[in-house]
Amino acid sequence: MSDVTQLMYMELRREWNRILDEARPRVAPRCKACRECDSRRPRCMFVSSERGKSGERNYEKLQQIHLAADTIYEGGNGDEIDASCMFFGEKMSAPVFNAPIAWIKNAFPASHFKKEGVEAVDGRATDSDDYGYTKALIKGCADVGSIGWVADSKHHPLVHFFADGLQAIREQNGRGVPTIKSWEKEEMIERIQRADAAGAVAIATDIDCVGLGDMSINAKYDSLPGVVTPKSAAQLKEIFSVTKRPYILKGIMTPQGAVKACEAGASAIVISNHAGNSLDQSLATIEVLEDIKRAVGDEIKIYIDGGFRHGEDVFKAIAMGADGVLIGRPVMVAAEGAEAYGVSIYLQKVIWELKNAMRMTGCRTLKDITRDKIYISKEF
Ligand SMILES: Cc1cc2nc3c(=O)[nH]c(=O)nc-3n(C[C@H](O)[C@H](O)[C@H](O)COP(=O)(O)O)c2cc1C
Repeated sequence: MSDVTQLMYMELRREWNRILDEARPRVAPRCKACRECDSRRPRCMFVSSERGKSGERNYEKLQQIHLAADTIYEGGNGDEIDASCMFFGEKMSAPVFNAPIAWIKNAFPASHFKKEGVEAVDGRATDSDDYGYTKALIKGCADVGSIGWVADSKHHPLVHFFADGLQAIREQNGRGVPTIKSWEKEEMIERIQRADAAGAVAIATDIDCVGLGDMSINAKYDSLPGVVTPKSAAQLKEIFSVTKRPYILKGIMTPQGAVKACEAGASAIVISNHAGNSLDQSLATIEVLEDIKRAVGDEIKIYIDGGFRHGEDVFKAIAMGADGVLIGRPVMVAAEGAEAYGVSIYLQKVIWELKNAMRMTGCRTLKDITRDKIYISKEF
């Protein structure tokens, strides 16, 4: 950790609540900056599907998994607990990342990440300061020893989501993962090459972005670089052959999808349903984790997101076979509340909880977090 003050857990919680209070007026009306971000309708209107059931299910299914405490073992004062891991050659203090979400002023019209001297026109949030926002994400993650992810969105002459995120990653010496939408081949290749030149640790594609209404196959925007489409394993392999960097397919929800990701040459997948944005009535991400792990084993790294809020939730995913967890909306709210500091406070709290769960279950390192350390309720 670099310039982050190490706080005690109670202080972290107090500070987190203060950050939520700061964020609340800036994230209204879609988000209420709830103490527990559970996606429940009608209070939560963050995701765009009409019923919002997939997002709710992500959270609910995680609540049906419980940790098995056992503190009769020969241990130390807690300092020996080591949650660190490697991510494509980079050391991380714990297997926790932010999840990529672009266009801050589209999500939060009252966001403080606002470009001075630019007016929002066309209801399209053209005054969005995505550079300030992604810098907060990337720096906040780096400050706690994590790695930040940034996203991509449609082209707009006044907002440059992808370039802004890449700039933030470049300034952190490449410690970040840019996520590229499934554009037409030439557009994807051009963006992969830019991500490569920025020195990114790895490059991702949210292959499930084809389900997002205004990016669907029939949508043609004035300045959109073509449309986003599903791609075969062979197409993805060819597109990503322009880089030697590891690449990650985000938005995998079935064992078959995971096997195809292996065929496509991806180094990792993210099990994700886009917080429920892209398809309503899907299973929760945690429900498909074990089937996917069985299908691909150790052939590919498995990351997961959707409804993970606390270190205990991260523990559950590791016990069920994941290599790490991404957290979306709470980190976005943290950036809105206190920029990089907010992100670092939230992630420190999650990491503290993970380490406490490890201590309470007799796990010194992540390898010790095995399936017998959790119980799953019958109704799961
Ligand atoms: C408003 C919104 C916008 C999103 N935009 C993107 C995006 O541009 N690219 C992407 O890969 N994922 C995007 N996601 C999905 C997140 O990366 C992540 O999968 C999801 O938020 C994780 O669930 P959580 O918010 O419950 O933690 C978006 C999610 C939300 C809520």
